[in-house]
Amino acid sequence: MEEKKILENRQGEVFTSSNTNSSPVRKKLLLESYGCQMNFSDSEIVASILSEAGYTTTKEIEEADVVLLNTCAIRDNAEQRIRHRLDHLKSVKKKNPDMVVGVLGCMAERLREKLLEEEKLVDLVVGPDAYRDIPRLVEQVEHGSKAVNVLLSREETYAEISPVRIDSNGVTAFISIMRGCDNMCSFCVVPFTRGRERSRDPKTIINEATDLFNKGYREVTLLGQNVDSYKWNITSKGEVIQPDEPTVNFAQLLAQVAEVSPELRVRFSTSHPKDMTDEVLDTMAKYENICNYIHLPVQSGNSDVLKRMNRGYTREWYLDRIAAIRRIIPGCAISTDVIAGFCDETEQEHQDTLSLMKEVGYDMAYMFKYSERPKTLAERKYEDNVAEETKGRRLTEIIDLQMQSASLRTKQHIGKIQKVLVEGVSKKSDAHHYGRNSENVVVVFPRGNSRIGEYVHVQNVDATSVTLIGEIVH
Ligand code: SAH
Ligand code: SF4
Ligand code: F3S
Repeated sequence: MEEKKILENRQGEVFTSSNTNSSPVRKKLLLESYGCQMNFSDSEIVASILSEAGYTTTKEIEEADVVLLNTCAIRDNAEQRIRHRLDHLKSVKKKNPDMVVGVLGCMAERLREKLLEEEKLVDLVVGPDAYRDIPRLVEQVEHGSKAVNVLLSREETYAEISPVRIDSNGVTAFISIMRGCDNMCSFCVVPFTRGRERSRDPKTIINEATDLFNKGYREVTLLGQNVDSYKWNITSKGEVIQPDEPTVNFAQLLAQVAEVSPELRVRFSTSHPKDMTDEVLDTMAKYENICNYIHLPVQSGNSDVLKRMNRGYTREWYLDRIAAIRRIIPGCAISTDVIAGFCDETEQEHQDTLSLMKEVGYDMAYMFKYSERPKTLAERKYEDNVAEETKGRRLTEIIDLQMQSASLRTKQHIGKIQKVLVEGVSKKSDAHHYGRNSENVVVVFPRGNSRIGEYVHVQNVDATSVTLIGEIVH
């Protein structure tokens, strides 16, 4: 496919070098993203596809010809948020009946045609593997019919598409390295909304990282639902596909990205406890520019609950992985995801989650009440039988404990001199810059001569609960 250079001007308008002289800009696109980093990264692919088709982006809903919501379906409240947004769009559409409203992403994939019946203003429904088709589908809508493409693919990785960086600080960027998920955790809708797991050609990943580095970016985050099962040229059974081509696993991919430049920081998300190998940890330890931070979702601290969740590991296995991280990468920050009130969760099982959290001492956590999702294994097999009130109370206990842990972990950095990548001007004070240390903690410091996109050494002198206050040292 022909590669076209994508340009972005100061107003955030996106256009392609090939169409700036010939065809005038035709339509304005408003693109909103919800959900996980993967969705935000997908929106950059959608923006790229639409800029090729001659669209410019806008942030003003009143001037948009096409409004696309890239949606999340992970919990019921994520979908409710989208419904509220659609309600608001109704009044905008009354004033501008020609405005095309589209729903993309996981909620589109989950509800398919039903979304057109339930939300009358929606014209367009497009699933995560059908984004190349959006320009054609919008045309179909303009010719008077509704349009749906929710086909999932076993191959699509948008490998060669050069994402248009939306709302970028010019310093940090996401790179998708794989799509879909084959894990079937019983609570999770993702395998249904994003289809089968597939990895992206490593050459295109390295090219994207190199290109970002050459443009001044200094940090990339490699994204996948389970990065540890990244594999290229090898089947899930371990058979080599092309014998004369090298195989690449996640640890090897990490090393290749780290070698783009020692000045390029590398992060990744999400690791899966059942698949995270020592080889990955050894690679992290070997390269200074692979950040000391691992997001390792535990979900529950009780092995029976983990079994019902179909997570593929026990409490002991998980704690062994934590021990391996502490042994191989001392000082590594660890974050997690926790679900409160999963089906049949007893008080004792909940206590086991609290005790595991105490034992690990997480730097950060995302914590949720269990939300039953249609079609999932848990919905078919178990009853969502923990009372709402109990779920709420357990979640509060989990959050309270985590707040204490986070504050302790942040304080441990006080007094240390650390390398910080400057990301921007502090929201609270023009005289301050902010950035992050390798462990992903935000550090705010008087800007001095520092410039955005540069590394500085900062001595941490104080901390609020989750932010460090520092001073540049030379
Ligand atoms: N692939 C990642 C997580 C993807 S979803 C992983 O395997 O860890 C992000 C988080 O949302 C999950 O880790 C889980 O904690 C939470 N989550 C997923 N489904 C949920 C549900 N039905 N109810 C509540 N939380 C859920
Ligand atoms: Fe969902 Fe589990 Fe896949 Fe994560 S690993 S996306 S929780 S099914
Ligand atoms: Fe949500 Fe889909 Fe991500 S359900 S969490 S946007 S993969």
